[in-house]
Amino acid sequence: MRVVILGSGRGSNAEAILLAQQGGRLGAARVVQILSDKPDAGILALGPRFGVPAKFVDPAPFKTKLEGEGEARFIEAIRECGADLVVLAGFMRVLKPGLLNAFAGKIINLHPSLLPAFPGLDGIGQAFRAGVKETGCTVHYVTLEVDAGRIIEQARVPVETTDTLETLAAKVHAAEHRLLPVVIARLSTTAK
Ligand code: GAR
Repeated sequence: MRVVILGSGRGSNAEAILLAQQGGRLGAARVVQILSDKPDAGILALGPRFGVPAKFVDPAPFKTKLEGEGEARFIEAIRECGADLVVLAGFMRVLKPGLLNAFAGKIINLHPSLLPAFPGLDGIGQAFRAGVKETGCTVHYVTLEVDAGRIIEQARVPVETTDTLETLAAKVHAAEHRLLPVVIARLSTTAK
C-alpha cells in the first residue's frame, strides 16, 4: 500500500510513521511521498532523513482551504506518486470535493481529540479549557464535513488535575504517535 503523507507543521506524526516503517511495524504500507503546503515546514526535512521524496506544493490561491489551482496541484502530485492511501498528519487545510472525490474513501486524518468532541482548530486546548476528565486522539476518514467522517480508531488520554496545557499536549501527542502507525499498518493488511 503506497502512502502519501500531507502535513503543514513539524511532522512529528510523519516521523512516527517513518520510524515504524524503519522498524518493520507498518505492515504492507510504504511511505512513497511527503507533501506540504508550507515551504518551510519541518515535515519536509524528514524526506532526506528517511530517504523519502518530500516537496512543497503551492496551495494558492486560498489561505485555509484547498480549492481551485492549489487543489489541482495537490491532486496531480498525489496521482503522480500512485498513492493508495492519503494520510493527513497535521495538514491544516480544509479539503474540498475536487480532492475528496479524486481519492474517495482513501483519505484519513489524525485529530487531537476524541471526536465528535472538540472538532476544528486546537482540539487539545479546547478539551483542556472545557475541563474534561478524558481526551485523546482520533483517526477518521475525511469527508466534506470537517472532522466528521467515520471514525477508524481512537486512543484515550486521562486528564489529571495536575495537568497543564503543556503536559496534556505532550500526552496527546505521544498517544497520536502510537495510534497513527498502528492504524496505517492495519489498513494496509485489511484494505481491498
Ligand atoms: C497533531 O497534533 C494533529 O493531531 C493536529 O496537528 C498536529 C500535527 O503535529 N492536527 C489537527 O489539529 C487537524 N485538525 P505534527 O506536525 O507534529 O505531526
